[in-house]
Amino acid sequence: MAGFSINGGTLAFPTPEEANHGKAPWPHSDQSAYRPWPHCIQGLLNLLPNGPDDGGLAVLNGSAPLFEQYFKEHTQPDGGWIKRDLFDWTDEQLQWFKDRGCEWMKPNMEPGDFILWDSRAVHYGAAPLGTNKRMAIYTCYKPIEFLSEEQRERKVEAFKRGYMTSHDPTDFVLKEEQMAEWNILHPYGKPSINKETQQAIGMVPYE
Ligand SMILES: [Fe+2]
Repeated sequence: MAGFSINGGTLAFPTPEEANHGKAPWPHSDQSAYRPWPHCIQGLLNLLPNGPDDGGLAVLNGSAPLFEQYFKEHTQPDGGWIKRDLFDWTDEQLQWFKDRGCEWMKPNMEPGDFILWDSRAVHYGAAPLGTNKRMAIYTCYKPIEFLSEEQRERKVEAFKRGYMTSHDPTDFVLKEEQMAEWNILHPYGKPSINKETQQAIGMVPYE
């Protein structure tokens, strides 16, 4: 049984006239070197046609199964690897993956296409090269037993208030902006959700 995240979605308008329009890639994995096993699955539901120039998810294909091996074969820096579930990769480090056959791919998607990826996979959000808008919803998944009672209460509260959480379904953070005056919560009224969704949030237990 899986719990899922309520980290929301994106409606992105390309802004080619802005200086940082061609934002450089930031290849990363969303797990720590100390958690090299399959732990969290991330998902993207695409809502607008998304071609090669439209920005969005880019993945280093084949990198997730090599994640553990990378850290076994490399010495940790002074102070150890970063402990939170985030690892930013340098070009030099990524060459190790490329030498083992990994290649960048940015899947083209139609409205309704859904992608799941392992949090260990190296990925980033590519900047758009054209003028098309992009719209997608993100959901991440973990076994429901990873959710502590304290986290469950926080998550249900966040859902009821309309707060968006970070990607992790259990170890999430609530960004301060969620509580800001300008943040319009439930702009279209409260959602009605079915039993399966209530179970995945932690509102009602799985049977
Ligand atoms: Fe990520």
